[in-house]
Amino acid sequence: MSQLQATLVCALAAAGIDSPLPETRALLRHVLRLDWTGLVLAAGRRLTGPEAEQLDALLRRRLAREPLQHLLGEVEWGGLRLLVSPAALIPRPETESLLLLVLSELEGRLSPQVLDVGTGTGALALGIRAARPDAAVTASDVSREALALARRNAEQTGLEVRLVQSDLLENVAERFHLIVSNPPYLPGADRRDAQPEVNHDPDLALYSGPDGLDLARRLVTQVPTHLEAGGTLLLELDPRNVQVLAAEMTATGWTVRVHSDLNGRERFLWAQR
Ligand SMILES: C[S@@+](CC[C@H](N)C(=O)[O-])C[C@H]1O[C@@H](n2cnc3c(N)ncnc32)[C@H](O)[C@@H]1O
Repeated sequence: MSQLQATLVCALAAAGIDSPLPETRALLRHVLRLDWTGLVLAAGRRLTGPEAEQLDALLRRRLAREPLQHLLGEVEWGGLRLLVSPAALIPRPETESLLLLVLSELEGRLSPQVLDVGTGTGALALGIRAARPDAAVTASDVSREALALARRNAEQTGLEVRLVQSDLLENVAERFHLIVSNPPYLPGADRRDAQPEVNHDPDLALYSGPDGLDLARRLVTQVPTHLEAGGTLLLELDPRNVQVLAAEMTATGWTVRVHSDLNGRERFLWAQR
């Protein structure tokens, strides 16, 4: 197996894949259905015929730059195991920082009403509900395919969230203590230089007009009538755009704070009116 592992690492590295060793281990664990320790203990064994075939098929797809997460069918995010598919954005590690900002904002508020706009896999909504079982969490998305995946994630995690199909807040009637969103925020021109893996995320989840702020600007105009008094809006944005939207919101009466991600890049907006 160590010879096989070395061959896989070389093949992935030659295809320009950044973390060939962790990806090799993830593929082997998936095919052999082993945890990390099991994989170490299995170092001396040969793959069966069906295992070798499955590994070969997965390797071909990965070398064609299909995301590893789509091959595995799931991702660990925010302490949850979530199903992923081409129907929705693969939840990103930086969005775990947004989840932490939400949870810190909710500290001390009992039974909060929370809305996650553009829920995708349901990651934020389910992460909030897992940490705060007293929260009533609504998750919305314009994409029916994404909502179907979010529903499967709610079922398989056993977490209860209300799912609503809506273009931003159009089909949402209630008010909330906190509205969170990681909307599509990339400028359309980024499509040209996107990593091949990113092209497997839905366009609808990524791009938002010439400067990336079309959706976020529209959401900001709709939010005030859906926030309880003293309620908070938390947004994830492209670091190139955070200060732009912060300035626009300040000019229209919002109190705004900017938060950075773990790489020190300004990525999140906290806002109240
Ligand atoms: C960047 S993804 C975020 C997904 C998920 N919240 C996460 O953080 O992993 C943006 C999501 O917004 C949804 N979306 C795009 N346009 C929308 C709209 N007009 N109204 C509601 N949701 C929208 C997309 O379908 C996608 O699921």
